[in-house]
Amino acid sequence: MNHYTEEINRRRTFAIISHPDAGKTTLTEKFLLYGGAINLAGSVKGKATARHAVSDWMEIEKERGISVTSSVLQFEYGGYCINILDTPGHQDFSEDTYRTLMAADSAVMVIDGGKGVEAQTRKLFKVCVMRRIPIFTFINKMDRDANDTFELLDEIEKELGIATCPLNWPIGSGKEFKGVYDREKKCVISYADTEKGTREGTATEIPVSDEERLTEFIGKSAADRLLEEVELLDGASAEFDLEQVQAGNLTPVCFGSALTNFGVEIFLQHFLKMTTTPLPRRADKGLIQPAENEFSAFVFKIQANMNKAHRDRVAFMRICSGRFDANMEVRHVQGGKVMRLSQPQQIMADERKILSEAFAGDIIGVFDPGIFSIGDTICMPKENFRYEGIPTFAPEHFARVRQVDTMKRKQFVKGIEQIAQEGAIQIFQEFNTGLEEIIVGVVGVLQFDVLKYRLENEYNVEIRLENLPYEHIRWIENKDEVDMTKLVGTSDMKKVKDMRGNPLLLFVNSWSVGMTLERNEGLILTEFSRN
Ligand code: G4P
Repeated sequence: MNHYTEEINRRRTFAIISHPDAGKTTLTEKFLLYGGAINLAGSVKGKATARHAVSDWMEIEKERGISVTSSVLQFEYGGYCINILDTPGHQDFSEDTYRTLMAADSAVMVIDGGKGVEAQTRKLFKVCVMRRIPIFTFINKMDRDANDTFELLDEIEKELGIATCPLNWPIGSGKEFKGVYDREKKCVISYADTEKGTREGTATEIPVSDEERLTEFIGKSAADRLLEEVELLDGASAEFDLEQVQAGNLTPVCFGSALTNFGVEIFLQHFLKMTTTPLPRRADKGLIQPAENEFSAFVFKIQANMNKAHRDRVAFMRICSGRFDANMEVRHVQGGKVMRLSQPQQIMADERKILSEAFAGDIIGVFDPGIFSIGDTICMPKENFRYEGIPTFAPEHFARVRQVDTMKRKQFVKGIEQIAQEGAIQIFQEFNTGLEEIIVGVVGVLQFDVLKYRLENEYNVEIRLENLPYEHIRWIENKDEVDMTKLVGTSDMKKVKDMRGNPLLLFVNSWSVGMTLERNEGLILTEFSRN
């Protein structure tokens, strides 16, 4: 056992996902509150400003008042060292959101009890399923009118294809919200309005066996209904099984109200007990165990211009094994160089803290002079292995890019290539021509604005974007066996290639994908590329 095993084992690294407005920021804030990282009064008063300070680095974010980038927060609670990876909370989110999930060991999904499963939850969920990331569900806003509880669970099961196991059960909602029934303790925890969390609530615990007190407290009809629902629930819901949770097949569910601090700490405690220590990661030489190996990490995100005065880029990496020491030499495998990581830092709310050490499970940001790419491996100089790449997710929006001033060709190509290298956009070319025509693909349409803004502000290049109707992209898995010139597609199909020269197909309609597969025997198409 290494001396740092204990440090690694107390780490919990998770992403927090939700549809915008479900209460992700509020819940995160309450977690920080319990961890003592922020105080009660400050959190409520300064919310609007704090929210911006946490992750809004770019001008464009301020202009539009939304958060484009993901941030990482670390705090201590009950002996655990917790890393929360925030995911952009706007429907125009980008690939970064997906990639952030690659750096997490589990995910907390926040659902608005009055809305149920929403579009963005669905998308992010697909990625969790792909990686078999355990998911913990917090059904929020129970102090407002919520949908029927059984229906909410049913929706999660049907829409997301995962079994649910409620850890507690709400008693009413909105004005009628009385508290929750704790299934493990078999008691009712009463809801106390905390005036939007500005003061501690005094929750009372009443065992359900004490019918008299229960009736006195929540009323006869609510008590009867609760006992009925609990019986139904015990018979109908999936049994709690930690292995199934950790395999991503079963999601524990808690109900509460983040705004009023109700049920948040209990959820956090349950979550910390059930979620995992930093997980091993797959590399070309096999699984790398966090505590049994020296330092290694992979880059999952590159953020440009976090500090405008310095035009810097920060590469975010997830430490996968061992202990990182700011003075040590490391190998950047893809760059083929041994080096020291410059200005290693941790992003804590609105401050950046230069750090001297960090452990597997932690996320660090390092100054990037333009050498890192998404998916790169960093390890000890004597090692030389690569972590499994981060998949390139299928863009869903495409546009043709035209320069306004064609004299600035060089800056244009440099700018667009650098922005693509950071992973903010994907660029493609016509299959048969050169770089003359560039097609940009993005996961969220906001990225088009970001591209235009950045090219103008950082590279002094003005562009025009012409939207293209394509919505579906497919990589050709067996490209060596396919003759692109003979490929028979549909009339809405377009052949392009990525910057590595890999052939791809763009389609307007999803049925054309199936049609093309039918027309070309042996053709294998994939939705994301693992290069
Ligand atoms: P997000 O990060 O998922 O986008 O959501 P956020 O936490 O910003 O919450 C969105 C809105 O929902 C906020 O109101 C917030 O106060 C409210 N909210 C969050 N949790 C609860 C809850 O448990 N109960 C109730 N009733 N409301 C909740 P807002 O009006 O948009 O912002 P603000 O003026 O309160 O700051």
